[in-house]
Amino acid sequence: MSSNPPGASTTQPKIPVRRGPIVGVIVVAAGSGTRLGAARPKAFAPLAGRTILEHALDSVFGMQREAQVVVVVPADLVDDAKTLVTDAAGAAHEYLSVVPGGTTRQESVSLGLAVLDASVRIVLVHDAARALTPSTQFDAVVTGVAQTASGIVPGVPVTDTIKRVDDDESVVETVDRAELRAVQTPQGFPRAALDAAYAEADREHTDDAALFAVAGNTVSIIDGDARAFKITTPWDLRRAEGLLADAAPTGGLRTGIGTDVHAFDDASELWLAGLHWPGERGLAGHSDGDPVCHAITDALLSAAGLGDIGSVFGTADPRFDGAHGDVFLRATLERLATAGFTVSNVSVQIIGNSPRFSPRRAEAERLLSGLLAAPVSLAATTTDGLGFTGRGEGICAIATAIVSRQYA
Ligand code: CTP
Ligand code: MG
Repeated sequence: MSSNPPGASTTQPKIPVRRGPIVGVIVVAAGSGTRLGAARPKAFAPLAGRTILEHALDSVFGMQREAQVVVVVPADLVDDAKTLVTDAAGAAHEYLSVVPGGTTRQESVSLGLAVLDASVRIVLVHDAARALTPSTQFDAVVTGVAQTASGIVPGVPVTDTIKRVDDDESVVETVDRAELRAVQTPQGFPRAALDAAYAEADREHTDDAALFAVAGNTVSIIDGDARAFKITTPWDLRRAEGLLADAAPTGGLRTGIGTDVHAFDDASELWLAGLHWPGERGLAGHSDGDPVCHAITDALLSAAGLGDIGSVFGTADPRFDGAHGDVFLRATLERLATAGFTVSNVSVQIIGNSPRFSPRRAEAERLLSGLLAAPVSLAATTTDGLGFTGRGEGICAIATAIVSRQYA
């Protein structure tokens, strides 16, 4: 033990000061979605095979700046949302919180504000229901707040003629629509001023900008984006699904590729393309060593963006010890179905000297096409004596697959 006398110079180790993000994004997703009328609260309702909240988070995580992200959800969905938010954030995102919301949107926002990191200087408040808002709208709002230190709200011109009416639905006047903007989210604010405005709010406001302005702060509009419309009714949901289908570069079709190799093993039976081949040299492998079924599994998983056979089925899993190819294919189909995909077709090329494949090609195609409920075509070739397949050391299979996304 040593202590330094007062005034003595000390050599401190250089510990980097950990600073949190300057920007905080509160995503409010705690509403029930009465007008949408889905089976689950709106943010958890399906949109093109994923939840509305996941689509909204894609835009948040596409922001240029690092941000603390606070997601406010119904209290009974906090645990579900934690998994979903962590998955959407991807690799080690440090500043994520999921908190239970309140009975009004305003209360939900204030519960989100309460957990912002001390480092946050600019707060964006975003409706999860505006699920297709482009990330660039978030970036523009951050820039606007940073440059002006006032509230920044994206808005679009109103296209309908607007009438003011009285209690009897009689028209009182036509409002000059040139003066009107339909506002969207995210709405951005300097953090200290927003905290103060929330602290003094004594009634419900229809948006954060109104609450902020009532406290005496300035709010400016920047150009919004038509894609940031709020999903409120079933009609809005259909519109969002249509936009996502149009945006899919291949009209919702996706390709995948998979390769698998197994070495010959005279002690094993041969299973190839889902068939048993008595009397032929077998292949070594943790399961039945069927490279055709394994390559198809990989091609389907990759087409659907669901990983690969190793990460999904794990060679350490005893359930797949000695399992035949159909076990992998059925389990893969289930995963695809859950993610909203169906198989369009699969094509496999088998590379190896033996067995002679053509006599059983039709049988194997029937079996695999039946299993996948989609056309599977199989072909076989040799490599002119070259490489490990040419030397008769094993069999390789290469599969491609096309899957298509089915919207719920
Ligand atoms: N919101 C919230 N907490 C509430 C109410 C609403 O976090 N108590 C959120 C919603 O989840 C939504 C956003 O505020 O992302 C905008 O609200 P709105 O579109 O009205 O959604 P809901 O209130 O869920 O829908 P509805 O009014 O049809 O019930
Ligand atoms: Mg509402």
